[in-house]
Amino acid sequence: MLILGIETSCDETAAAVVVAGQRVRSNVVASQIARHQAYGGVVPELAARSHITAILPVVQAALDEAGIGRREIDAVAVTTGPGLAGSLLVGVNAAKAIAYGLDKPLVGVNHLEAHIYANWLSQPNEPPPPPPPFPLVCLLVSGGHSELILMTGHGHYRHLGRTLDDAAGEAFDKGARLLGLGYPGGPAVEAAAAGGDPGRFELPRAWLGDTYDFSFSGLKTALLRAVAPYRLSDASPDPATANGPAGPFREHTPPRLAAETPVGDLAAGFQTAIVEPLVVKTVRAAGAFGARAVLLAGGVAANRALRDTLAARLQEELGEGVAFRSPPFAYCTDNAAMIAGTAYWALRRGTQIGWEADVHPRWPLVVTPG
Ligand code: KG4
Ligand code: ZN
Repeated sequence: MLILGIETSCDETAAAVVVAGQRVRSNVVASQIARHQAYGGVVPELAARSHITAILPVVQAALDEAGIGRREIDAVAVTTGPGLAGSLLVGVNAAKAIAYGLDKPLVGVNHLEAHIYANWLSQPNEPPPPPPPFPLVCLLVSGGHSELILMTGHGHYRHLGRTLDDAAGEAFDKGARLLGLGYPGGPAVEAAAAGGDPGRFELPRAWLGDTYDFSFSGLKTALLRAVAPYRLSDASPDPATANGPAGPFREHTPPRLAAETPVGDLAAGFQTAIVEPLVVKTVRAAGAFGARAVLLAGGVAANRALRDTLAARLQEELGEGVAFRSPPFAYCTDNAAMIAGTAYWALRRGTQIGWEADVHPRWPLVVTPG
């Protein structure tokens, strides 16, 4: 079963070919980061227009890299939500046209579910990993979402907690702006934190009692306060209050910071303050729900500090009985291999969409008790 996957929910135009939900034959991602960098975040109209020029060359590149012709595809899978409406429309229209032309089934995939299923994928030329055992707890942390999910079987999810304000990736992105580190913020903060002392600045953690919810907006304000003494001028707009780019053509001005600003220590303290509540609540949930595996997913799963701390804490508190998995780096941030992979399991349940299918910009992960 060869599935062509297409992903255009945000700012990556991606296509991939995956065999039977696991073996990745090709995974092509055309990043638009350079186009959005000047604005400090994704500009929806620019994203949609970049997708429309990139989509067919990216699909062709995925077929070429897989070494197959169009007619060998058994099904076409596409992200139908959640995401930016204009961006989703480009992928869904392309997928409809390809599936129609080839007379093959079309599968609509939930982007959040796909991030979870990235854990089933293997790298090209590597054997597939053993499938994670159920029940499992998944920490899904990306630019738009931070959720703790209990998965009891294929397609069966229960929400345990979510962020009450910013997503973890969004917190990294906003923190990076405050530190003048550029976009996307996660990798930039991680790199800056590498030589830093995480204990030098006391930054708050929002524990929110016994819940499995998260909150990062207070941390962002605390970082703003910690950086304030090092800001040279207040002439530039306050990046902490800017909720993404203000308009399609308003450029983001990085703050001017003094040369002696301890960016490494601030970044390390900030990263640790994000990672700690994520790790503590995930380990607690795994224990409480008898999880046999814990999965990381989403762009923030690329973060080394998060991966290493979670793996170590699970081992310490729950022992060898709980398997820990995080996707290969290439499948953490947005990609189409995870879309094609998810579609395989959906097709096995008989799920496919019709020609009249719409996009679902705010589609939550469908919760079906299992
Ligand atoms: O999953 P993703 O590619 O897109 C969404 O669905 O949102 O996640 C992108 C997010 C961005 O906020 C980015 O800053 C964050 O993932 N990210 C990271 C790292 N790499 C990407 N955050 C922390 N550390 C990283 N190494
Ligand atoms: Zn994503």
